[in-house]
Parts: sequence; structure tokens; C-alpha cells
Amino acid sequence: MSNVSIKSTREIELMRRAGEITVATLMEVDAMIRPGISTEDINRFVHEDTLRRGARPAPLNYHGFPKSVCTSVNEVVCHGIPSEKDILKPGDIINVDVTSIVDGYYGDTSVTFYVGEPSTEAKHVTEVARRSLDLGISQVREGARLGDIGAAIQSFAEKEGCSVVRAFVGHGIGRIFHEAPQVSHVGQSGSGMRLRAGMCFTIEPMINLGTYEVDVLEDKWTAVTRDGALSAQFEHTLVVTKTGCEILTKRPAPLKNSERFPGYWSPSV
Ligand code: MF3
Ligand code: CO
Ligand code: CO
Repeated sequence: MSNVSIKSTREIELMRRAGEITVATLMEVDAMIRPGISTEDINRFVHEDTLRRGARPAPLNYHGFPKSVCTSVNEVVCHGIPSEKDILKPGDIINVDVTSIVDGYYGDTSVTFYVGEPSTEAKHVTEVARRSLDLGISQVREGARLGDIGAAIQSFAEKEGCSVVRAFVGHGIGRIFHEAPQVSHVGQSGSGMRLRAGMCFTIEPMINLGTYEVDVLEDKWTAVTRDGALSAQFEHTLVVTKTGCEILTKRPAPLKNSERFPGYWSPSV
């Protein structure tokens, strides 16, 4: 017996609603990304938009986190704290991680955006991260194993010359922000817990251009790459089904400031 909860049909309906509202806010963040705005502008927008939708921003006061969204720029791996002093400039990449609580259920999703035109390196790490999430998701179905997800991500990302962060993992989610299981983004196929229909969890690979090692700053939250190289991340919340999974934070339309290089992998991958 695992300690991973199986959500009921009714709970999955509530998770679906939480996912929809969370991604709706993230879509609006996409529309506001441009050079010159501060990460605090993003925080203010996410906070107000979340409340407008009848939801609550999960990060605010979560274990003392001081803001309503995480904004992670360039070498920041995750848990960046919005600040009036952090102004986006052309060439930056920024992950915006939105988590909303809707009628007690959590939706959790993040995207890395391009600010202006990216360097070759910024584009590469971002597109590797995007595809890493897609490949992880493609492993999910009833009967598959947790290790299949990490293996798919790790083999791809490392083949592309990137590294996969070990210090943070995906997580079960429901009426609790972070619950069992832990979803590692590295691993061995055929290992780990078997997935069952009705399990809800996130996959959220953090992909670095250099070392996978991270340091957490004095503020106790901001995680940065140890070597200062770029990092990118994408995250979805999903529910396992018999034949695959349903992405609960599926976006209704392409992103203006992220999905800008649809031909990046063709024709070889
Ligand atoms: N949204 C993050 C995750 O994907 C967690 C952020 S915790 C916070 O799990 F406190 F930093 F907001
Ligand atoms: Co998460
Ligand atoms: Co998140």
C-alpha cells in the first residue's frame, strides 16, 4: 500500500477547476511580459487576478514565503521572490510559477518566458526544459512507474548538454500543496512506485545549462545555480488515467512570450 491518495471523480472535478483558474492567471501574465516591468508588477497582478477569480494565492505566507507568486530570472532555479528592484531586461528568461487554491484544491503550473530576443543559450535551456516536461508527461499512465518519468527527462536533458536539478522535485497535490509522492526528475526506468488512475501530481523539471547544483540565498528561498549559469523550468499539474493522463493545467492557447520557437526541434527530434 502506498501513501499516495487516489482522488475521487468529484475531487478530480474540483482539481480540474483549480487547474483552469490557475492557468487562466498564467495566460494573463504572458500578456504582460515585456522589458521594463518589475517582478513585483507580476506579483501584484497575480495576487489581484487570483482574488478576482475567487481563489487564493498559495505561495503567500506558505512556510513564510512573502509574496503571491515565484518569479525566477536567469540563474535563479526556483522560488525567486518578486521585488520592485528586479526589472526585466531584453534577453532575460523568467519562470513565473502560479499556484492557486480554489474551493480548497490546488492548481500549480509554471512557464519560462522570453523577455525580448533570447541568446542561443537562453533559447536552448528553455526549449530543453519545455520538452523535458512533455517527455516526462508522456510516460504517465496507470501501471507505469515513477522512475520512468525521471529517466525520460534525465536522458533527454543530458543528451542535450544540460543538467537536471536534484534538490527540488515534483509533488502530489490536492487539498494539500505538497503531498506524496515526490516526483524526481532524474531516475531509472522501471524503478519506483507504480502509478494508479486518480493519482494527482506535478511534474516540474528544472534544467540547467551548467551544473545541477544549487545554492539557496540568505533570504532562505531564492535557489540559484552554483555556477551562475542559466536555468529554466516548466510545470503542469496532472491526474493519472488508465491510458495516460489528463493535464489539469493545460493552456487554452499558445503563449505569446514562450511558445515562440515551434520549429526548434524539427526535423531531428
Ligand atoms: N509552486 C512551487 C512548486 O511548484 C512551490 C512554491 S512554494 C513558495 O511546488 F512558497 F515558494 F511559493
Ligand atoms: Co509544484
Ligand atoms: Co509550482
